[in-house]
Amino acid sequence: MTTSDPKDRLFVALDTPEIERAAKLARALADDIGGVKFGKEFFTAQGPDGVRAAAGSIPLFLDLKFHDIPNTVAGAVRAAVHLRPHIVDVHASGGRAMMQAAADAAREAAEDAEVPRPLVLAVTVLTSLDDRDLAEVGQAGPSGAQVRRLALLAQDCGLDGVVCSPREIAELRAACGPEFVLLVPGIRPAWAAAGDQKRVMTPAQAVAAGADYLVIGRPITRAEDPRAAVRRVVAEIADA
Ligand code: C5P
Repeated sequence: MTTSDPKDRLFVALDTPEIERAAKLARALADDIGGVKFGKEFFTAQGPDGVRAAAGSIPLFLDLKFHDIPNTVAGAVRAAVHLRPHIVDVHASGGRAMMQAAADAAREAAEDAEVPRPLVLAVTVLTSLDDRDLAEVGQAGPSGAQVRRLALLAQDCGLDGVVCSPREIAELRAACGPEFVLLVPGIRPAWAAAGDQKRVMTPAQAVAAGADYLVIGRPITRAEDPRAAVRRVVAEIADA
């Protein structure tokens, strides 16, 4: 990863359908974080105009995890580029042609609009699925092997990296090399409650293991003082 400023690694997940709450948090945290993440909840409630209004000029991870036929995903990525996201993502299980179409669309749309190309990342296996769930939908496990297979496929398709769980960082860093972007949710500072995240790492552990970007939501957004929480996280990243 090229950045040397520890705060650039931190994207804060603003998981709310409410525009005022999202905008207020984004404004309060803007100077101390790398960017904000909006996902399906906020986007479905507030749409692209809501994302523009709430994110302002803060770097944006548009986490819509596209998964459809290649033509449709390409169109969605092209539309997303108009929001000037720093990062977008698709499901690797959409397959080679879909991922290549996403990468091509991001490049072409960014050239056409004369804006920087967003990083295109792949989601491998949802961390909510265990080996039994995978077997039920006909995917060969164990899940670790499937994660690795999909990450290597994403890399072969020209994607910039993957979204992965903390426990996958070391293996994917070794398998995919130093340039492949690893963006990691499921991060819990030592002082925060784990909540529903089961396999957690602290920010320092995740960066030391090889993570490029950390996505953290509730430990920051639900903290009594979200700015103070951000500063503690960034200090941990700096010390990693
Ligand atoms: O609040 P919390 O820190 O758990 O938020 C993590 C964010 O990362 C949420 O937006 C969640 O949807 C997302 N995420 C995740 N686990 C994954 C993929 C995405 O928690 N495997």
